[in-house]
Amino acid sequence: MSNFLNNSEEEIYNEFLQNGYIIRKSSNIPILNDLQNYIVESSAKILGIKEILDNQDWLNNIHKFVKPENLNDFRLKVIHSITSNDYFRKNYYNVSRNYLDMIVGNELAMQLRINLSIQLPMDNSSLLPVHADTWSGDSPFEAVVWIPLVDCYKTKTMFILPPNKTEDLHENFELKSGKNSKDLYENIKNDIIWLELKYGEILIFNQSLPHGNIVNQESETRWSMNCRFKGIFTPYKDKKLGEFFEPITLKPLSKLGMNYNFPKIKS
Ligand SMILES: [Fe+2]
Repeated sequence: MSNFLNNSEEEIYNEFLQNGYIIRKSSNIPILNDLQNYIVESSAKILGIKEILDNQDWLNNIHKFVKPENLNDFRLKVIHSITSNDYFRKNYYNVSRNYLDMIVGNELAMQLRINLSIQLPMDNSSLLPVHADTWSGDSPFEAVVWIPLVDCYKTKTMFILPPNKTEDLHENFELKSGKNSKDLYENIKNDIIWLELKYGEILIFNQSLPHGNIVNQESETRWSMNCRFKGIFTPYKDKKLGEFFEPITLKPLSKLGMNYNFPKIKS
């Protein structure tokens, strides 16, 4: 196979294949700040707070205003305000665009709905037990762009199982997966990597690798967004084009190719 990648593309290529993810500073911090500002303003409005002095401080301490029993309702209201913003998805893409270009491609389909995760300290009501998205019907051609709105570290972040360890798991799956995700976590917990990110960095990961989180045992709330991207012309599984994904960067020749008809020849 030929390799016409330049040095920086090759570095990303190798890192993603070896680790199953990349973490990089967003090349578009002003737009990332706009996304964070929008969520801070929406959340403050929902809670009836007029002025926020420090975005990260507000988000990190949201558990002082939202109780676990009200968390899902609050989260859905914030998601509703994201969905009602026409520019949010475009900005989300632009925050990660140059890395998506290197890892997934430049002719992309994007998930219609951006997910928001809020993990309050010591709250076990919104956990994501270890799983690979492909195990429940996602295409292995999908990548997840995970954007933290606060610094994420220790149990305030997510974990992933590296590709070589995932291969071991796949080879001994019946033995290692046990009866449930708790057994599986126990069997892989020494091999997982906790992904530490500062606000301003983005994570792109391979959702075919087992990943998840545990109870946030830090003193701050975690806020992160996630959204899937894939090449428009790569195979789809349960999440279909039009229903779940929509093309966002279709090129003109692809449009022409899809609509091309041979000339009619009289027989
Ligand atoms: Fe997942």
